[in-house]
Amino acid sequence: MPAWAGDATQVELLALRKIMQELGRNMQAITGAISQEEWVQVVQLAPKVAAHPEPPLTEKMRILAYLGADATKFRNFDAQTHEAALAMKLAAASSDGKAVIQSFAHVQESCLGCHQAFRKPFVEHSSN
Ligand code: HEC
Repeated sequence: MPAWAGDATQVELLALRKIMQELGRNMQAITGAISQEEWVQVVQLAPKVAAHPEPPLTEKMRILAYLGADATKFRNFDAQTHEAALAMKLAAASSDGKAVIQSFAHVQESCLGCHQAFRKPFVEHSSN
């Protein structure tokens, strides 16, 4: 983890937070759809998790500058989210409930992994 010592810049990560809140809402909607076995809905929602928007370039640059050497790790978690969400879409498209649930768990593992590694330092670093 990069240390904050000597870094007086407080960054604003508004777009990132909005993207995360949207991811949270979509994951909740997917949970609801899974419990109703509404696979068509999962097919529609999964791409919103897989292809979530990116922060605008300026914010992205700030995030990458902050991450430094950890940028790869951060990107890998993001890629894991994308891949697991795409697998979930495919499973839902073939109405394979078990596989949907398995890939849903993989999506959540990717959320959790990134949060455990990065959330606290981001929130502490951020001014909003
Ligand atoms: C590549 C890293 C990464 C991945 C993957 C990731 N997150 Fe986050 N998430 C963050 C960071 C960093 C924060 C803290 C940002 C902040 O609060 O400013 C955060 C914060 C959040 C928040 C809190 C937002 C708030 O209002 O404080 C939610 C909800 C959230 N993420 C949901 C998700 C969900 C659901 C997934 C998986 C589908 C996910 N995230 C995947 C990095 C990630």
